[in-house]
Amino acid sequence: MKLAPKDRIIFALDVPTTEEAVKYIDLLKDHVGVFKIGLELFVAKGPPVLGAVRERMGGGGIFLDMKFHDIPATVRGAMRSASTLGAEFVTVHCDEGSGLLKAVVEGNTAGTKVLGVTVLTSLSVEDMHEIGIDPKYKTPADLVLKRARLAKAAGCAGVVCSGQEAAAVRQEFGEDFIIVTPGIRGPNDPVGDQKRVATPYEAIANGADYIVVGRPIRNAPDPVQAATVIAKEIERALKDRGTGVRLI
Ligand code: C5P
Repeated sequence: MKLAPKDRIIFALDVPTTEEAVKYIDLLKDHVGVFKIGLELFVAKGPPVLGAVRERMGGGGIFLDMKFHDIPATVRGAMRSASTLGAEFVTVHCDEGSGLLKAVVEGNTAGTKVLGVTVLTSLSVEDMHEIGIDPKYKTPADLVLKRARLAKAAGCAGVVCSGQEAAAVRQEFGEDFIIVTPGIRGPNDPVGDQKRVATPYEAIANGADYIVVGRPIRNAPDPVQAATVIAKEIERALKDRGTGVRLI
């Protein structure tokens, strides 16, 4: 995938108002490629917020992080509705299996890229076992791969997984499957609720196409500088990736 380093940064607009979203767009539109509208902003402001974001961005994609999770008929309809909003990416959880994933893909009437969320980056292996995942899964990686296979078979354009699984996903699915990696943290960033974290360099070197970054940019004293440093790290990782470096 030929993208400039900065265009591989998906900035998470995890704010409750359009005014705050617009403030970050004005600040960061020349320093990141995609803006992500997640549950906080979408629940507060609804579909019109996509128009407001798009108008302000002046180009680049919108990542609509709906994380659909319901019965197939409901998610098919939800995706049909989402298809009218013009987002480049929409997400669906993989953990309810093929029926749900296929329904979302069927409901996609507009060429939006449907991405399957494999295992949230805020989950550790202990969290997985707590919610009833078979203890035979000793690390999240095997479960991520199993779910990525379901997503691929259902017709998803790619998956969301941590930087710790990106290399295995890339190896199995090749270059045409999109990998988006949240849980991005620099060495000095607070980890917060994320568990399976990776640096921008690690995620991209391991094969991620895009990284999702929220708090490390939003809470930085200088968000533009933080995004610039991340873009440089992406560039360095892409160069190393070109020479075959894979971290895991
Ligand atoms: O602030 P931080 O960089 O942790 O934000 C990560 C963003 O990525 C959040 O908006 C979160 O909803 C999203 N995300 C995630 N893990 C996933 C999928 C999406 O953290 N598996």
